[in-house]
Amino acid sequence: MTMQLERPAGRDDLVGLVNGRVPGYSLAAPFYTSQEVFDLDVRGIFAEHWIFAAAEAELPEPGDFVTVGVGRYSVVVVRDDDEEVRAFHNVCRHRGSRLLDEPRGSVGNLVCPYHHWTYGVDGRLMHADNQPATFDRSCFSLKPVHVRSVGGLVFLCLADKPPADFDEVAARIEPFLAPYGLRQAKVAHQVDIVETGNWKLVMENNRECYHCDGHPELLSAYFPLFGYSAEDVPPRLKPVYQRYGTAAAALQSACVRQGFPIEGARELDTRATGFQLSHAPLDGAGKSFNTNGESVCSRLMGSLTTDRFGDLSLHMQPNSWFHMLADHAVLFSVLPLAPDRTLLRTTWLVHPDAMEGVDYDLATLTAVWQATNQQDGTLVARTQKGVEDPGYQPGPYSTVEGDVEAFVTWYVSRLAAHLSR
Ligand code: FES
Ligand SMILES: [Fe+2]
Repeated sequence: MTMQLERPAGRDDLVGLVNGRVPGYSLAAPFYTSQEVFDLDVRGIFAEHWIFAAAEAELPEPGDFVTVGVGRYSVVVVRDDDEEVRAFHNVCRHRGSRLLDEPRGSVGNLVCPYHHWTYGVDGRLMHADNQPATFDRSCFSLKPVHVRSVGGLVFLCLADKPPADFDEVAARIEPFLAPYGLRQAKVAHQVDIVETGNWKLVMENNRECYHCDGHPELLSAYFPLFGYSAEDVPPRLKPVYQRYGTAAAALQSACVRQGFPIEGARELDTRATGFQLSHAPLDGAGKSFNTNGESVCSRLMGSLTTDRFGDLSLHMQPNSWFHMLADHAVLFSVLPLAPDRTLLRTTWLVHPDAMEGVDYDLATLTAVWQATNQQDGTLVARTQKGVEDPGYQPGPYSTVEGDVEAFVTWYVSRLAAHLSR
C-alpha cells in the first residue's frame, strides 16, 4: 500500500505514481509534496481544463481587470470596450515583460512598463515606438486565452484545445444560475488566504463534511445529514431527516412556482469538466448562512421572490465551488502556488443595489465563511504536515467521503490522460 516514490523525477516515475493510485484511499505522499507532481498538476490539470478565474462582478466597467496566477502562468482577465470579458497571457509580445503586477485594477490601455508597447483592452497592439516601416502591429496582439462566462462566473482555459464538453456543462448550469443575477451582482467582499497545504488537500477538504463538527457556524445552517441517503440515515438522525424532508418539499414547491430548474447533477468524475449541482434546504430559519439561519442581506438576489430558498451549490473540478443563497452568493477559487502553498480566494456577491450598513452588515454577511475558512485552513495545514511526515501512509475514505473519492478519481484519470498524450 505504501508508495515508495518520494521524489519522482522522470516521466516514468510520474506514470508509475499515477497508475499506482489505490482507489478508495488518499493519495501517496509525493502527490502532495513533490515539486515534480506540482509542475505536472499545473501542466496536466490547470493548463488543460477550464478553471474558475473570477466573477464578472469583479469587472463591472470596461478596462477593469484581474490577474490570475497559475504556476508560472499569469493571465489578465479584462472587460473590453464592448463589455465582453477577454483573457490574455500577461506577457508582452516585445521581449516578454510581465505587463500587469497588480491582482486587480482598471486601465484604459495595457501599457508595458519596459518599452511602453501599448495594447488595447481587446489585446491589439496599438503603439510601439521606433519600429521599421515593415513592422506589422497586427502580428503582435497579446496572446489570447480561452475565456467563458457561465451565468456571471468567468472560467478560462489555457489549453490550445479546451475540453469540448464545457459548452454542454455550461448549458446545464446556466439555467440554475440565471435567477440569481450574478452578472449584475456587486462584490461585497473578497478575501485571499494562503493556505499552507497542497491545492488538492484544499479541494479534498472542501469535498466532505466528515469533519464538519469543526464548523459550528456552518453547521448551524446545514442539516447534519452529509453523506447519508434516506436508507442509511442512522436512527438518531431520523427526526432531522424528517425535518429535512419537509424543508426539501417546500423548496421544491418554491422552485416549481417560480419556474426554476429542480433536478441537480452529479458528474464529478465522469467527464473532463467534472461538476455537481444540488439545491438543498437550509436548517433553522432556513434563509442564509447565518448562525441563526436568518437573512444576512435584505435585498434578494436577481429575480428571487422568496427569502427561504436554500443553498444552490455548484462544485467544479478542478478548482472551485459556489453557494448561491436567496440573499447573497459566495464563490471560492483554489489556485496552486507551490507544493505546500495554495491561494484560496473567497468572494461574496450581493444584489447590485444592496448597500453596506443599510441592507447588510459586512461582518454578519461574511461571518460563517470567514470562520469556516479559518477552521479549514488549520485542518489543511495539519494534513500537509502529516503527509510530509515519513510515517504517512494513504488511508481509507469513509462512506461519507464519496465526493473526495470522486475528486481524486477525476484528478488521477485526467493526469493519466495527460501523460498518455
Ligand atoms: S518588453 Fe514590453 S515593451 Fe519591451
Ligand atoms: Fe470544512
